[in-house]
Amino acid sequence: MTEQISIRQETQDDFKEIFEVNHIAFGQVNEAKLVDALRRNQTVFIPELSLVATENNKIVGHILFTKITIIDDNGNINESLGLAPMAVRPEFQKSGIGGQLIQQGLKVAEELGFKSVIVLGHEHYYPKFGFEPADKWNIKAPFDVPSNVFMAIELVKDGLKNISGTVIYPKEFETV
Ligand SMILES: CC(C)(COP(=O)(O)OP(=O)(O)OC[C@H]1O[C@@H](n2cnc3c(N)ncnc32)[C@H](O)[C@@H]1OP(=O)(O)O)[C@@H](O)C(=O)NCCC(=O)NCCS
Repeated sequence: MTEQISIRQETQDDFKEIFEVNHIAFGQVNEAKLVDALRRNQTVFIPELSLVATENNKIVGHILFTKITIIDDNGNINESLGLAPMAVRPEFQKSGIGGQLIQQGLKVAEELGFKSVIVLGHEHYYPKFGFEPADKWNIKAPFDVPSNVFMAIELVKDGLKNISGTVIYPKEFETV
C-alpha cells in the first residue's frame, strides 16, 4: 500500500479534506479546528510544512509543523518548530504513512533553515525518527508531562546547542 503514497504540500483545495482526516483520526473536531486556526495565524504558519499524504488523489494523512519559541530563564528567545498535529485515516494506519509524513516534514524543515523540532508524543514512536527526550537539552514543556514524551530533534549538528528553557506554543493550542 505504502508505495502508492505521495507526500506533498497542502493546497487550498485540500482544507476540507484535511479537516475530515483530523476529525476522523482523533475522533473529535478539536485538532481539525486547531489546524484551521493555526493556518490563519500567519506568524506561526509555514505553508511548506503543512503536508498531506495522498493515495490516488485521496488525502489519507496530514502533518503540521508550526513555529514555536523556547524561552530561557534569562529571557533569551529561540525559534524552533512544533510537530502537531499529525493524523492518518484509521484504515490507513500502521503502514508507515505517519513515518513518511514525519521524515518528509523534517527534510523540508531543514531545507527551510530550521534547526530543531519539538514534539509531544508517543515515547516509542518518535525516537525511530531521531527524537530524544527534550530534557537532554534542558528544554521543558509549558505543562506537566512525563519527561519521556516531550521530545526534540536537532535538524543540523548542534541545532539546540546552548538552547534551553520552556517551550511556548502558539495561543491556538490553548483551545485543544
Ligand atoms: C499517530 C498516527 C498519525 C500514526 O500514523 P501511522 O501511519 O499509523 O504511523 P506509522 O505507520 O508510521 O507507525 C505506526 C506505529 O506507531 C505507533 N504509534 C504512533 N503514535 C502513537 C500513539 N500516539 N499512540 C500509540 N501508538 C502510536 C503505532 O502503534 C504503530 O506501532 P507499530 O507499527 O509498532 O504497531 C496515527 O496512528 C493517528 O492518526 N492516530 C490518531 C491521531 C493521533 O494520535 N495523532 C498523534 C498525536 S498528534
